[in-house]
Amino acid sequence: MKFYIETIGCQQNEYDASRLSVFLKSFGLTETTTKEAEVIFILACSVRQTAVDRVFGRTRNWFKSGKKVYITACLITEDKKKLEKIGAVYFKDFDELKSILELEAVCSQFTTNSCPYIPIMTGCNNFCSYCIVPYTRGREKSRPTKEIIREAKKLISHFSTAQHRSEKLEIMLLGQNVNSYKFGFAKLLKKINDLPGDFEISFISSHPKDMKADVIEAIAVLPKVKKEVHLPLQSGSDKILKMMNRPYTAEEYLRLVKSIKSKVHQVRLTTDIIVGFPTETETDFQKTVELCKKVGFSLAYINKYSPRKGTAAFKLGDPVSWQEKQSRWKVLNSLINK
Ligand code: 5AD
Ligand code: SF4
Repeated sequence: MKFYIETIGCQQNEYDASRLSVFLKSFGLTETTTKEAEVIFILACSVRQTAVDRVFGRTRNWFKSGKKVYITACLITEDKKKLEKIGAVYFKDFDELKSILELEAVCSQFTTNSCPYIPIMTGCNNFCSYCIVPYTRGREKSRPTKEIIREAKKLISHFSTAQHRSEKLEIMLLGQNVNSYKFGFAKLLKKINDLPGDFEISFISSHPKDMKADVIEAIAVLPKVKKEVHLPLQSGSDKILKMMNRPYTAEEYLRLVKSIKSKVHQVRLTTDIIVGFPTETETDFQKTVELCKKVGFSLAYINKYSPRKGTAAFKLGDPVSWQEKQSRWKVLNSLINK
């Protein structure tokens, strides 16, 4: 049987896609193109409406061409039900997929992981008012350090084979908010750093409210940790930050940046920004522009606000026009990304 995996959204999904691929191949399935596949697996994303629309559109087309569709990841219950009505099969995790596919007998073969992402935690407790993630992925759950170390060791030994020797391995630690890793993020960085081998460690994302001195110190001194921090700002307006339930001010964010810059030599800072959050005025937006100028980000993922049903901000509607969001997007994009 031939399969294809459609991945939408974040690195967590990319990581899951590569695990899913290994999992399916271990049962003798072969990976192929969308066209040739008899079975499609979708790793969905609900962060923006455009991503949800894509899942629905593609699922319908795949059904029309006689393919089976299995779906997992970031979905709200309502969309799950709608997709199941169309005929897609939802599965929560590998265990559920395993029983759906009735492949239990050979399941124990699934052992390796060849993907340079390691999720250290899943879910989120922050409930930023615009964000669907705490509802789709649930509460924060940290993976045991031992398990993470085991996975890192596996990756390192896998990459030391001849096939990969030309490139340097970069292990990316994943979590919605790695700084709240329950068993100590700075300690975890040190443990991975101290594993033998030539590799680099990077991580995303860091919530500014949880970025503490011990982690900054670890980034500064541990030689294998990349001097890069992805620090989602979302907005430079205190009014908007408050409405977003982001518990910091523009000034506090800037203070944090200064502290990181002073300790981590030549640090590269990247960020996420939302333009057009409800009630964001031109003055609010200019505050974001000003803050971005002061920080000097190397890269920004700029997102146009997309209302998500079920979130606190949903009741505020979507008063900023698409044109306005687009023009703000362009301003920031040419300031930061060009
Ligand atoms: N609309 C637009 N962007 C959003 N993000 C999360 N939710 C929304 C939304 N409803 C963005 C944030 C977050 C990134 C992963 O996605 O900037 O940091
Ligand atoms: Fe969403 Fe905020 Fe959690 Fe990030 S920290 S996943 S933006 S709720």
